[in-house]
Amino acid sequence: MKKHYLLLFSLMVMIFFAACNHLEPDVSGVQPKLNLPEQAFDYEGLDYPDHFLSRFNFVTRVNPDVTNDGATLGRVLFYDNNMSLNNSVACASCHHQSKGFADGAVGSIGFGGKVTPRNSLSIANGSISNNLFWDSRVNSLKDLILEPIQNHIEMGMEDIDMLTTKLAATDYYPALFEKAYGDKNITADRISDAMAQFLGSMKSVSAKYDVALSSNDFSEYSSLENLGKEIFFSSKGQCSACHAGANFSSINSYYDNNSLRGATNIGLDAEYSDKGIENGRFRIPSLRNVALTAPYMHDGRYETLEEVVDFYDHGIKDNPNLDVRFRDSNGEPIRMDLTSIEKKALVAFMNTLTDETFINDEKFSNPFN
Ligand code: HEC
Ligand code: HEC
Repeated sequence: MKKHYLLLFSLMVMIFFAACNHLEPDVSGVQPKLNLPEQAFDYEGLDYPDHFLSRFNFVTRVNPDVTNDGATLGRVLFYDNNMSLNNSVACASCHHQSKGFADGAVGSIGFGGKVTPRNSLSIANGSISNNLFWDSRVNSLKDLILEPIQNHIEMGMEDIDMLTTKLAATDYYPALFEKAYGDKNITADRISDAMAQFLGSMKSVSAKYDVALSSNDFSEYSSLENLGKEIFFSSKGQCSACHAGANFSSINSYYDNNSLRGATNIGLDAEYSDKGIENGRFRIPSLRNVALTAPYMHDGRYETLEEVVDFYDHGIKDNPNLDVRFRDSNGEPIRMDLTSIEKKALVAFMNTLTDETFINDEKFSNPFN
């Protein structure tokens, strides 16, 4: 069960909903109005720009094919409070566009006021990652969406008829499903497929860093930002050893020589209460839009990027599973001893990973108002 504890709350609610077959679908409350463009937005251009690809050894797209109507449906589902029993929670409750699709809370508040034990993750470029969730437990967006639905089978729940009935009773879903899939049939599979399409189309490739990298011209960077970049990619900071490639993450979660790539123990604690995958190993998160996704780490323990940098500088704790890259030649946890300017520079560099185009792109915004 541990695996499933804080999954995608709306979908959990679908399950809950399925368990409550005595309840009538409720579409009676005041519903915000759905505003979709006459002509669907373009979600289909899934190719990544050259500067992005050149920073990867390989890129595999692991999400399903995207159509504009499919992703449009996914967008509506993502923002729709109807996905929860009491019409109070949507995916977007814990994934805000203005925050790079993270949510600003240490733990996120879900349906019924329960708080998730881990910090909400940002969402971007998920279509090229097979390394999802803090403990890398899911390998593709499609599986991520499907997991809670499969859980309900594991949990002995009946089916999700209540949700599909509820969606069918709205005045917009039948037409949206028909556009996306050719008929009005609303199924769990279509719900997860459409959402995976929407999430998969969320490309973040237009940060200040992208603009500079695509022309290999960092002259628009301030000297502080350039210094930060230097440290980030240096053997002193070695940040890029883990936050690698143009996505500043490890997109790969495969086992290789018996070690799990894409996740590691960075010495946050001498002993971990949440052990992640095992032994305090957590997925190496993307730093795209990281300036917007506070608080930080799997448990949201740091409020600012300054605190994160201070941690790497002199706070790494010894524990038996500490990543070897964080041990010095005597086997002790490394101390970077950065100057205060160097620390500021690292933060300034991370700020250049914010993608204003992405967080303001209407096609990813709330269609209800
Ligand atoms: C109650 C808050 C909450 C709701 C509602 C919620 N999420 Fe999340 N989401 C989280 C948290 C917390 C995590 C990190 C969980 C973990 O890694 O163990 C997460 C992780 C994710 C990730 C993984 C990102 C990555 O890079 O690994 C995706 C994608 C995602 N959620 C999509 C969704 C979708 C789609 C929905 C609606 C079906 C949804 N979420 C609903 C809180 C929420
Ligand atoms: C050995 C691999 C490794 C190295 C080197 C590394 N990191 Fe990390 N980083 C991680 C992992 C793993 C996490 C998540 C840890 C957790 O939550 O338990 C993380 C988390 C972060 C976060 C928080 C992201 C979030 O969304 O909460 C930031 C910011 C960050 N690292 C910046 C840096 C910087 C700056 C450097 C260089 C000084 C650096 N990292 C070096 C592996 C690494």
